[in-house]
Amino acid sequence: MGNIVLKKVSKSFGATTIIPEIDLEIEDGEFVVFVGPSGCGKSTLLRLIAGLEDTSAGSINIDGRDVTSEQPAKRKLAMVFQSYALYPHMTVRNNIAFPLKMAGEDKAVIERKVGDAARVLNLTNYLERRPGQLSGGQRQRVAIGRAIVRQPSAFLFDEPLSNLDAALRGTMRLEISELHHQLKTTMIYVTHDQVEAMTMADKIVVLNAGNIEQVGSPLELYRSPKNLFVAGFIGSPKMNLMDGATAAKYGASTIGIRPEHINISTTAGDWKGTVGVAEHLGADTFLHVHTDVGTINVRTGGEFVVSHGDTVFLSPDLAKLHRFGPDGSAL
Ligand SMILES: Nc1ncnc2c1ncn2[C@@H]1O[C@H](COP(=O)(O)OP(=O)(O)O)[C@@H](O)[C@H]1O
Ligand SMILES: [Mg+2]
Repeated sequence: MGNIVLKKVSKSFGATTIIPEIDLEIEDGEFVVFVGPSGCGKSTLLRLIAGLEDTSAGSINIDGRDVTSEQPAKRKLAMVFQSYALYPHMTVRNNIAFPLKMAGEDKAVIERKVGDAARVLNLTNYLERRPGQLSGGQRQRVAIGRAIVRQPSAFLFDEPLSNLDAALRGTMRLEISELHHQLKTTMIYVTHDQVEAMTMADKIVVLNAGNIEQVGSPLELYRSPKNLFVAGFIGSPKMNLMDGATAAKYGASTIGIRPEHINISTTAGDWKGTVGVAEHLGADTFLHVHTDVGTINVRTGGEFVVSHGDTVFLSPDLAKLHRFGPDGSAL
């Protein structure tokens, strides 16, 4: 089980409030991602759940049990950090076995659990190596293995892939998602990377300055961002935002249109502009078009041929246009 409920949880360090007040429910078996810019309080929130920080107010329940003042070790949660925190002088086998040895498990049980974890994580052939003889991805898998053998009611990940290069991050993303499908255990995953959030989450919690801006599935956030913050944060490349007279024409203080929801023509359209930088990625081409209403990023097909300086016309797909009021809330 791994149902986690936060009620009116707040956290201050001295006079500085980091988390004003949060209500959140995480269902058993869910993959939940906390995403937001650096410094918004993601790690603090995760550490509150883990019990590594005390709440300033409010309560935390795990599987119906109030754990607000319970020690971390009693909460049956396992945390995986960016800095793998492996013991360098121990073999992979002993690193994974460590929490079980500490708990006084008997040898046969330890052997079976370590073997199972190694199999799930493709580490079977590396059990006798030391961390220094492993790649970054393998080290992170060992750290995950050490969490798995504890059979926690939830896994807490704090930016576990930040130390890895882009290609390896992509692979590890898939591995962790696959692991979640196998284990079906609640996972809470903290990242500043909205691509990780979009690709891994069942449910995304968007945080900004310690407040929850929106909770929803990746596609809910993509299709219906509740406000300008979520609109600007979710989606890559970012949604184009325009205000002033341009937005007023559409009855809003600000309008937003994603690069993939703009039609481009060489003959006619709503916004006339000049092509600036074209980023050819193969499958897609992203054009930066300088128009009277600002520079607009447009996604076109990879084979779309256009040159720097060409005149083009852009038209937003009106069904996909986002409208925001003066306070930044979606209309
Ligand atoms: N022990 C602490 N004492 C004082 N301020 C802290 C402490 N831990 C974190 N903070 C502050 O809380 C804010 C949120 O930090 P953190 O939760 O680490 O953000 P994130 O993980 O989203 O990058 C930051 O401004 C940070 O400086
Ligand atoms: Mg952090």
